[in-house]
Amino acid sequence: MTDNAKTPARYTITAALPYTNGPIHIGHLAGVYVPADIYARYQRLMGKDVAFVCGSDEHGVAISMKAKKEGITPKDVIDKYHAIIKKSFADFGISFDNYSRTSAEVHHKTASEFFVKLYEQGDFIEETTAQLYDEEAKQFLADRFVVGTCPKCGHEEAYGDQCENCGSTLNATDLINPKSTITGAVPTLKETKHWFLPLDRYEDFLKEWILEGHKKDWKPNVYGQCKSWIDDGLKPRAVTRDLDWGIPVPVKGGEGKVLYVWFDAPIGYISSTKEWAEREGKDWEPYWKDENTKLLHFIGKDNIVFHCIIFPSILKAHGDYILPDNVPANEFLNLEGNKLSTSKNWAVWLHEYLEEFPDMQDVLRYTLTANAPETKDNDFTWKDFQARNNNELVAILGNFINRVVVLTHKYYDGKVPTPNEFSQVDKETLEAMKKYPEIISTSIERYRFREASQELMNLARLGNKYLADEEPWKVIKQDGERVKTIMFVALQIATGLAVLSEPFLPFTSEKLKNILAIGSSGVDTSWTEMETKEVLLPADHQINKAELLFRKVEDQEIQAQLDKLEATKKSNEQMNKEVEPQKDTITFDDFSKLDMRVGTIVEAEKMPKAKKLLVLKVDTGLDTRTIVSGIAESFTPEEIVGKKVTVLVNLAPRALRGVESEGMILMTENADGKLVFVNPDEDNVGNGLTIN
Ligand code: MF3
Ligand code: ZN
Repeated sequence: MTDNAKTPARYTITAALPYTNGPIHIGHLAGVYVPADIYARYQRLMGKDVAFVCGSDEHGVAISMKAKKEGITPKDVIDKYHAIIKKSFADFGISFDNYSRTSAEVHHKTASEFFVKLYEQGDFIEETTAQLYDEEAKQFLADRFVVGTCPKCGHEEAYGDQCENCGSTLNATDLINPKSTITGAVPTLKETKHWFLPLDRYEDFLKEWILEGHKKDWKPNVYGQCKSWIDDGLKPRAVTRDLDWGIPVPVKGGEGKVLYVWFDAPIGYISSTKEWAEREGKDWEPYWKDENTKLLHFIGKDNIVFHCIIFPSILKAHGDYILPDNVPANEFLNLEGNKLSTSKNWAVWLHEYLEEFPDMQDVLRYTLTANAPETKDNDFTWKDFQARNNNELVAILGNFINRVVVLTHKYYDGKVPTPNEFSQVDKETLEAMKKYPEIISTSIERYRFREASQELMNLARLGNKYLADEEPWKVIKQDGERVKTIMFVALQIATGLAVLSEPFLPFTSEKLKNILAIGSSGVDTSWTEMETKEVLLPADHQINKAELLFRKVEDQEIQAQLDKLEATKKSNEQMNKEVEPQKDTITFDDFSKLDMRVGTIVEAEKMPKAKKLLVLKVDTGLDTRTIVSGIAESFTPEEIVGKKVTVLVNLAPRALRGVESEGMILMTENADGKLVFVNPDEDNVGNGLTIN
């Protein structure tokens, strides 16, 4: 089952533009970029005309916030992370035809023209409404500059434009108990003019296009989210903002305002396609305007509404554009049981992974694919990573290839032997192999990448089992002719693996092709020919020496990763220790009423039958008085006698368990959470010193 019955003339494949407010981690790779890359590579192997585009999302509050936090300019932020992200993608073999950025001139121009066209067609509502305003920061609060409780699901950290918990799009004024993320202030309302996209006008179109048109072919999670929004009724959404970072609103009255980031960013797919076409000497327009093009958006689930409801409405309003055939959104990946988080540093960063596991890109690609959060959220664990590597890539795929290549060199100096007559098992094995291109294609065409990756591993299993059953290393002693046939069959499977692994394990596939001297370096065998071609690797073909494809991952390497995460957890706990909120402000007069003195503890004993209380005698300089203090769980009487302490001496006396307490010892917590005395400088103490 594919999306359209007809065969598309070309594919425009987009992957969500990542925000350049930090590097990227395994969650990004698993949710969006690896599946998109597998799909794009696969369609290229099928000989399809593919434009696989992406770029950095460099506008929006996420960037401004990062800049504020680091005390640098937004431009510094985007330049830094654009470079890091772009490199990570290249390092992991994500085969974009073009990776652009939304700060590029071509994008500013494209997005502005889009806005102007819709404006001139009367597709926006221009309206002055009351919006959230931070009096302290003197700015309007939109998007991530404001958090509050989601009116739909009750999540307390929903943003002004979206709740990441339930995926709803919101207007900032919908938030319950909104709070500025800049100053913490409770916002006031202030009037301002904006342009709104009246989504309600697109309800009929969306119903027909999605609810009727894509009930069968869109993933249930995607279809379900769309249905619930459409059924809820759509409201106009502001597509401009009172912010200083973004694309200036290009129409009269728009001075000082910018386009909403979710208006400009998806248009970035188009700008990136233009940039690519320009460089390649192609025409970009068919990739976005020809009905015979299959447009696909690979995204994470928090982006569904923007790609299925808002961007399509914008494309529809424009009038010249095609709509996506499918939006195969993934769920989220967790890490060792917890949500991935950039701000909490709970992540496996791609650039760090490569420092620790150099040349092991394919292992991560494979693990993330085999465990992809396709239908539900999924967990990445280092143990599982090790198991997938050691038990599958090393023990099955790597082992099979190694045996085939080593034996071919040992018996035939690396020359493919001429087979004799095939046995029943040989024929069945070759038949079984020929089914794999179709099996894997079907899974990929349905966006079932986990399944596809497991089928690839099944082909390696087939090869492994064949060798284990036929035991050429034993048979060689009695029947050299039979071994020629066995090795010939095994070499055909190895060739099949080299071809079919390319979308999933591009680096390994490349190495394998070099070993087998196929592809650009020799005999050519393509995915599409595999089913029909009698022989994939002909007799007498010379192959190259074995090369290590995968290595074992040791327990201590995994432990090191787990230790690193444990350290992150500890440091987060330390930082998150709740600092008690400040109490109400007091006047100086209130303060001067406190009479604090330096005193010495002269006696201490436990209060009978009270776990927490010590009864102290304190010499305050004025007198020696009794103070009951709740510190018995932190100090023994013996260790505190003689200690200098700060005492509030004019606190009204009160009775505790029948003992009258005439003052209070001032205590605080140190960084480890241990109770300590507010200790006057030891050199400075004369009893009875006033503190002010
Ligand atoms: N930057 C967004 C995110 O990380 C995704 C933007 S996708 C695009 O969630 F369509 F706007 F490009
Ligand atoms: Zn919500």
